[in-house]
Formats: sequence, C-alpha cells, structure tokens
Amino acid sequence: MSDRVIKIFDTTLRDGEQSPGASMNIAEKLEIAQVLADLGVDIIEAGFPIASPGDFEAVHQISKQVRGATICGLARCNEQDIDRAWEALRPAERSRIHVFLATSAIHREFKLKMDKDEIVRRAVAGVKRAASYTPDVEFSPEDAARTEVDFLCTVVEAAINAGATTVNIPDTVGYATPAHMAKVIRTLRERVANIDRAVISIHCHNDLGLAVANSLAAVEEGAGQIECTINGIGERAGNCSLEEVVMALRTRHDYYKCDTKINTTRLVPASRLVSNVTGLLVQRNKAIVGRNAFAHEAGIHQDGMLKERTTYEIMNPEDVGWSKTDLVLGKHSGRAALGDRVRALGYQLTPDQLNTLFDQFKALADKKKEVYDADLVALIEQGGRDEQEVWQIEKYRLTCLTDEVPSVRLTLRRGQEVRTVDVNAGDGPFDALFWAIEQSTGVNVVCRDFNVHSLTVGKEAQGEVTVEIEHNGQLYRGRGVSTDSIEAAAKAFLNAINRVAATLGRPADRVSPHNI
Ligand code: KIV
Ligand code: ZN
Repeated sequence: MSDRVIKIFDTTLRDGEQSPGASMNIAEKLEIAQVLADLGVDIIEAGFPIASPGDFEAVHQISKQVRGATICGLARCNEQDIDRAWEALRPAERSRIHVFLATSAIHREFKLKMDKDEIVRRAVAGVKRAASYTPDVEFSPEDAARTEVDFLCTVVEAAINAGATTVNIPDTVGYATPAHMAKVIRTLRERVANIDRAVISIHCHNDLGLAVANSLAAVEEGAGQIECTINGIGERAGNCSLEEVVMALRTRHDYYKCDTKINTTRLVPASRLVSNVTGLLVQRNKAIVGRNAFAHEAGIHQDGMLKERTTYEIMNPEDVGWSKTDLVLGKHSGRAALGDRVRALGYQLTPDQLNTLFDQFKALADKKKEVYDADLVALIEQGGRDEQEVWQIEKYRLTCLTDEVPSVRLTLRRGQEVRTVDVNAGDGPFDALFWAIEQSTGVNVVCRDFNVHSLTVGKEAQGEVTVEIEHNGQLYRGRGVSTDSIEAAAKAFLNAINRVAATLGRPADRVSPHNI
C-alpha cells in the first residue's frame, strides 16, 4: 500500500491571529499567506470574513493574489456569515468555506441554548448553503472532543449527507489526550455510515501541551488533514504546531508511513516571519525552530556529534531551514557574499531589496565589526516592516541624569506630517521616550510587558526589544532592533502604537469565533 499524503491546513491567519496581541494588518497577512503557499500547505485558512471589514479584505486580497493553495474562509452556520465568506473567497483559484457550530452539551446549554435537533438542523442548513457556492465545504462541530460521541456521529453523518467534503474534529479547549482522540476518530470511522465520503480532519488546541500528540494519534486512526499554525500560535496556549507535526511525520516515516507536501527547508524562515509580524517570540528550546533546537552544549554530546552527527541529532538542521554555518560578514564583505548569505537563510529578495539591504548592512557593519545571521535576519525583517509603519522616528534627543527627571525631544514623521514634542517625565530613559511617543501620536496606552535581549553575542550585539501594550482592552505587540537598546525600545513601542493606530476607526466589536 502506498503512503498516505496528509493535507496540511494552516490556520495561522485565523486561529493563530486569535492569540492575544497577535493581530496582523492586511499587508502582513498577504506576506504570510504567500510564504505559506511557498511552504506547500494545502489549505490556507485566511480569516473569518464576517468578523470585521479588515478580516474580509484580508481574505479577499489573499484570494485574489495568492496561488497554489486552497483559500479557506470561516463562517458560522448562518446565511450572513456564509454569504460574506463566499464574497471574500470568490476570486480564489480554489476556495473552501469552513462552517462551524458547537455541539457539546456545555455549549448547547449555556452558549447556544439549542437542543440537539436544532443543532443538526442548523448544521445541515449551513453546509447546504456553503455547498451552493463551492463544492469544497468543511464542517466543524466545535468542542467535538467534549461532545457525546453518539451525538457527534449523528451530526457528522448529517453534515456529510448535506455536502461536507471535510469533517473537522476540533478539540477546542485542548481537553483530549492521545488515547481519547484516537478513540473518537476510530468511533467515527466505525459508526458513521458515510464517513468514506469525507476527509477527516483534526484541529487540536494545546492547553495541556498535547496538541501535536493528539493530532498524530488522529492521523494513526485515519485522519487525512491536520489543522495547525506556524510556531503553534493560537487561542490561549495555541494550536498544533505545523513545524512539529510535519517533522514528526517525516522523521518517523518508518512508523506513520505518511507524507505531506511541505517543503521543510522553508520552515525556519516561515517561523521567523510569523514571529516578526506578530511580535510573539519563539522560545529558545522550541522544537524545530527554536534557537537551541540544534545546539549541543554537553561535552559528551559535542564529542559524539564530531564523530557522527546522528549520535545526537534525529533531524538534519538544514532540512528544516537552518543554515549550515553562522558565517560572519564584515564591512569588507561585498554584495555577492551578502546575496549568497541571504539566499542561504531562505529569503528571495528582488535586486532593489538587495541593494537597500546592502546599504543597511554596510551601516550596521560600521557600528559592529561582525554581522551574524541573526543580524541579517533582523535587517531583512525590520526593513520590510519599516516601510509599512504609519509613524516613523525621525530623530530624538534624550537626557538622563542621576536624580533628575529625564527630558526628551522627539520628532516623528507620518508621510509628510512631522511632529516634535518636548517631554520632561518618566522614571528612566525608556519611560520618558514612551511618554513622548504617546504625546506625539495621541495614542495613550498601558505598557503590559517589556523585554530586552541581545540578538547575538558580544558587547556590540544588537538589542532586540519586544513590548506588549494595552489599548481599549486589546493587547498589541511591537518589536524593534538596533545596536542601541534605547532606540530599539523606541522602535518597538512605536511599532505597537502603529498597530493600535491601524485599528482605530475599525469597529471595536470584532467577532471572534469563540465569543459568540
Ligand atoms: O477550536 C475550534 O473549535 C475552532 C473552530 C472554529 C474550528 O477554531
Ligand atoms: Zn481552534
């Protein structure tokens, strides 16, 4: 029997965007969608079009511009949601409507106040309406893992009869364990008469840290699609991590006998992009894409590695997109060396982008003698971001003396508009600059989190600052990089303020699939 090919359904732009503070603008979503298509994902869940005009536009633009993957839009089982999803998806090369309705007793009783018959009736009506637009319809019984299994079988069978071609089994609250999930999928396959007419999909949240394990257990029982996100981002503790589940299937092909269409050498660049765009840092020890994932510290391990790599490595770092060496560039390195390095790091830049990067690289090499891969990645990622920033820092002067309140003169630019403010406030340089940025932009926020760390090694290393701010009850993240950590902090804070500014004027009551 030939190997099964498991479909990878990426929901970074929908469930991933539901991570607190991870909202993305349309340009960022388009960039990520293109990277996902290049990575080889089968289906991109681009958003929830009814949620807000911004969500609609993102799904619509991705449908227009991104080729190679099926584009999917989420909808509740009601006519307005489904019609809006179809409107957004219409230009796509291949489109899928994903309709969902909660089925567990808790959701039926407390959230929906519907009985079982009403749930089945609405699910069938939703699937039929979606199927009137596209033959590719996915149905999700939300909170399936906590749904009575008999009722789950009834709903799934009815949804397939109504035209669902994929039935997704969400563990919405991350409650399942691998044996539990395996049993649910096995039961569906044994008891749902028409199950062979649909692909079984699995959608696991990570509240108990079991999302990848549960997804793999479902695959063992016959699931043919895995729903996942880059870096595992998503509601609360996140979703099944794409890079982990894909590499588990690949590395343990001997056991699972399954393939995916993912080009695994694109995993690390995709992870970096999502981290940069969302401001959600990847923990160092994160499997596959964390900075330490292939670092060997113990002497015995290093010794083993030198003798034979496979003594302590089950995967080849290059197979997931880590470059072979952290080659150091300096101010005498030329354009060709830089271009080679950029390609080795997995980026495809246009000649114009490479020229701009070269100038930035020279400026950085003047400030710090050795430019490492992490510095280059920061320049590439930050470069693209800077162009999209609404407000940019023109210049600032900051004075801090012991026992005196700091003073700042800050000039910001927004297109042709230039604003300068003088501020004497704050209990330190960062605080003073943040005050000045708030004064200048007129956006007042509460700073919830602030982290500084160095990107590489040595005294001259670039500082990376991440901030999390709160505005009108919503969290926004920002990131900035510079050889000067104060400038990095100002950039990070302004980056977060720009995200707030981009949402001002949008309806505040954005609908989330889980707050209905
Ligand atoms: O976790 C969940 O139940 C979901 C559904 C909308 C599929 O994200
Ligand atoms: Zn989910």
